[in-house]
Amino acid sequence: MPNTNKITANEYQQFKSFLEETCGILLGEGKQYLIVSRLAKLLRDEQVSSIGELLAQISQFGQRRLRDGVSDAMTTNETSWFRDSSPFSVLEKSVFPQMDEEQGRMGCRVWSAACSSGQEPYTISIALNEYLASAGRSKLTNTHIIATDISTSMLEEAKRAYYEAGTLERGLSEQRKRSYFKQVESGWTVIDEIKRRVSFKPQNLLESYVGLGKFDIIFCRNVLIYFSPERKTDILKRMAEILNPGGYLFLGASETTMGYSDDFDMRRSSAGVFFQLKVRG
Ligand SMILES: C[S@@+](CC[C@H](N)C(=O)[O-])C[C@H]1O[C@@H](n2cnc3c(N)ncnc32)[C@H](O)[C@@H]1O
Repeated sequence: MPNTNKITANEYQQFKSFLEETCGILLGEGKQYLIVSRLAKLLRDEQVSSIGELLAQISQFGQRRLRDGVSDAMTTNETSWFRDSSPFSVLEKSVFPQMDEEQGRMGCRVWSAACSSGQEPYTISIALNEYLASAGRSKLTNTHIIATDISTSMLEEAKRAYYEAGTLERGLSEQRKRSYFKQVESGWTVIDEIKRRVSFKPQNLLESYVGLGKFDIIFCRNVLIYFSPERKTDILKRMAEILNPGGYLFLGASETTMGYSDDFDMRRSSAGVFFQLKVRG
């Protein structure tokens, strides 16, 4: 039987370093219980006897599956529809209209950089639908939302786009539920009109973004809070590099670029706060 409920002081330090290097997540002191409870199922399923053996197997044999299993187990996937509402109002009331006024614009590319089970990218697509319905003619009909996450199990859920009724209650009005979802089995699925703009792929925020292309808008919400100041600085620098001139950045309600990046201006609109890539002379 695996000894899943023990972790030595040495294993704890090794695991903390491994987690920071692999996912960027910083664990404070005294989080042994968290590691033990979150990894118990992985250790059981993979018949690994301890956290020490898990780390040894990953470092000796690479073991992509185990590595992914650790990220899946240790990441926090909390999310909801129209989370905090303000970023989506800013899109509809400020960002989309401004983009529509730009000369020569043809469509828009959006990156949802830690998309969890898909609520964020689908919400962006719903917000765009609502904007397009009110705007009449628009240059944004050709919009593509690329949604990424480190967690393969979250990406599978997101692609499946199937949600239990209770999950839909978190942030969706009855009217939006009826407009953008259809009932299947005992739950709901996102309609094709909303789904077709969104594509999913794995992306670790610590790794290169080069293959992703350039974006007009980046959502990187409620994930930087887990990272060290150095990681935040590095991620924001590399996001600035792949934003088109004047591109927009949305962070979580408790996150900021201040102190980590001077590539962005903080903007306030009546609908809320967002960041915009500085125009450099
Ligand atoms: C709290 S959820 C936030 C989801 C969504 N952005 C929102 O605000 O509702 C954090 C997400 O970040 C992902 N994540 C954590 N570390 C990551 C990394 N190094 N690279 C990419 N995604 C990561 C997790 O898998 C999780 O789905």
